[in-house]
Amino acid sequence: MARTIFYTASSVDGFIADQHNSLDWLVDTDHALPEDHPDAYPTFVADIGALVMGSTTYEWVAAHEPSSREQWPYEQPTWVCTHRELRLPAAGRVETWSGDVAGLHPRLVEAAEGKDVWVVGGGDLAGQFLDAGLLDEVHVQLTPVVLGAGAPLLPRRAPLRLLGVRQMGDFVATRYAVQR
Ligand SMILES: NC(=O)c1ccc[n+]([C@@H]2O[C@H](COP(=O)([O-])OP(=O)(O)OC[C@H]3O[C@@H](n4cnc5c(N)ncnc54)[C@H](OP(=O)(O)O)[C@@H]3O)[C@@H](O)[C@H]2O)c1
Repeated sequence: MARTIFYTASSVDGFIADQHNSLDWLVDTDHALPEDHPDAYPTFVADIGALVMGSTTYEWVAAHEPSSREQWPYEQPTWVCTHRELRLPAAGRVETWSGDVAGLHPRLVEAAEGKDVWVVGGGDLAGQFLDAGLLDEVHVQLTPVVLGAGAPLLPRRAPLRLLGVRQMGDFVATRYAVQR
């Protein structure tokens, strides 16, 4: 059975974006991040068959990858959760979804064709999947920074079970299973 995984980078104090929705603390750094590590993004994304993200995350991707409206960076089918009409990229297979994520989940699993589903974020969207009993794992790449405030990693209360932890260059790669 394909897993539904929230895979994200986080500050050590548990924020996935700063108060200005910025990821400069993650992308504008010279932290060592070995690409061939088993927990690194290229390895993770190779097993992903479908993506889901909230509209803030989508708009960040669109704003920071100027060509992404035409050259969407993800090959996999992607759903953007929004109550609004968004301008979607000309390239790629991107659709919008509004409402209960439990209604979307079967489409994600079907589109993933046996591979895993990636909940890209933000934290509340991952929480919606958790609330619905549909989140299997949480993978957090702990980034060597504290932010003091920002968008919380996963604003829910839920027990997790540690599956693995490894150093990944300057990062700590952690993998947890959601306890049901
Ligand atoms: N560190 C990382 O690796 C990482 C990963 C992912 C995200 N991030 C960042 O974390 C921050 C998270 O912010 P966020 O939690 O506000 O972002 P988000 O989840 O990307 O977007 C939230 C928005 O999505 C829409 N939405 C959410 N659930 C919905 C549903 N079930 N149906 C319809 N629409 C729904 C709503 O907006 P509308 O209806 O108004 O469109 C909601 O305000 C962002 O700055 C993002 O860039 C960081």
